[in-house]
Amino acid sequence: MNEALRLRISTADDHPAISDLLDTVFHEEIAREHREASAGVFEPERSLVIEDAGAIVAHTNVLSRDLTVPGAVVPAAHVTGVGVLPTHRRRGLLTRMMHRQLHDVAEAGREPVAVLWASETKIYPRFGYGPACARLTFSIMNREVRLPAPPAEPAGQLRMGDPQDLLPAVAKIYDQLRPERVGWSDRDDRWWRVVLADPKDDRDGATKLWAVVHEGPGGPTGYALWRVKDSWDERGPNAEVQVREVAAADPETYLALWRFLLGIDLSRAVTVRLAAADEPLQYLVDEPRRLGPALLDGLWIRVIDVPRALAARRYAAPVDVVLDVTDPILTQNTGRWRLTGGPDGATCERTSDPADLACSITELGAAYLGATSLASLAAAGRVRQLTANDPTVAFGWHRRPSPTEIF
Ligand SMILES: CC(C)(COP(=O)(O)OP(=O)(O)OC[C@H]1O[C@@H](n2cnc3c(N)ncnc32)[C@H](O)[C@@H]1OP(=O)(O)O)[C@@H](O)C(=O)NCCC(=O)NCCS
Repeated sequence: MNEALRLRISTADDHPAISDLLDTVFHEEIAREHREASAGVFEPERSLVIEDAGAIVAHTNVLSRDLTVPGAVVPAAHVTGVGVLPTHRRRGLLTRMMHRQLHDVAEAGREPVAVLWASETKIYPRFGYGPACARLTFSIMNREVRLPAPPAEPAGQLRMGDPQDLLPAVAKIYDQLRPERVGWSDRDDRWWRVVLADPKDDRDGATKLWAVVHEGPGGPTGYALWRVKDSWDERGPNAEVQVREVAAADPETYLALWRFLLGIDLSRAVTVRLAAADEPLQYLVDEPRRLGPALLDGLWIRVIDVPRALAARRYAAPVDVVLDVTDPILTQNTGRWRLTGGPDGATCERTSDPADLACSITELGAAYLGATSLASLAAAGRVRQLTANDPTVAFGWHRRPSPTEIF
């Protein structure tokens, strides 16, 4: 490692140079509106840069947000903005930053887990991040799928408009649903600014972002965000509806929102980037294959503090198990831990009892959101089940995670 490359904590003044670096490594030119919104959530004291001769050549940062996990909402270090200049890649800079960041997060003692999206799936397992949340994308032939008819007397109605104008209702629904939705991160006003930033340059020829809110007799019960990419060819209209988010408090709202999105005039396709692996839409349409589902990775979880993380979430069934965990980076996690709990809560303490299951911190992260099965990881040889006491069912959850944004 070249010691001339100095790793330091950022200052607020570094934000423009960091944005330039991220533009370079991600081969893009982020619009000013996005830069300004991201400056609003930037936490310089949790951001690390590496300098070479005074120029920033590498960066990563942590954003302090909460994440919904099975049965609980926990503070989670949201890791993002990871990049190393092409001139400095594969010299260990990312490794240096990741190790420092993990130690910093552990020492701060605020977050029991860290979470991120990976640009490439090979990058983060070596740092203890496990794939915790498969997600679906849909590429829907909307003229070839039918949804059930709406109720004869619908309880609500749809109101369409600019997301900024409808934000009070949208944010209210989001906050109401969030405690139950594994994989959702909290959004204050600054985050809504990030989420709803909609510069023309980023639309790739599509319309502005639209919102629709479902209003029931007692207030809003759901919303959707989408845009439309217009297209015409010799067969006529061929527009694509690009769905960003759908949130519904009840089945009637869910059906109403999807009937609206799949029925937009002049469209022949509807695409969805972030659907849960068990997205209810699959069970609602008459021809689910025409949804064109594809399974991708979603959130990656890194357990920072084993006892706090395991005691923070709830379990689908009673569990009393000894886990033998290996963590080469945050070595305080290494050792045997007794996890006792169930649907109402859990405790996790160090033990010298014999282990039921052995795994690395990466596999524990993968299983943390209740979506990646410990038994499947064992079948892949990534987890060793040492006794008949198998905690797979307890680690599961009744619904799959459904992340709403790529941060
Ligand atoms: C990903 C990135 C940050 C890696 O930085 P780096 O400083 O080159 O990483 P390191 O030198 O510390 O590499 C650590 C190890 O991970 C591997 N690795 C790192 N990035 C990889 C990638 N994109 N694909 C495959 N392997 C990768 C390296 O080969 C190395 O393995 P080795 O020690 O067995 O040789 C850098 O390539 C980059 O900025 N890429 C473009 C932006 C991006 O994808 N950022 C991540 C956003 S989530």
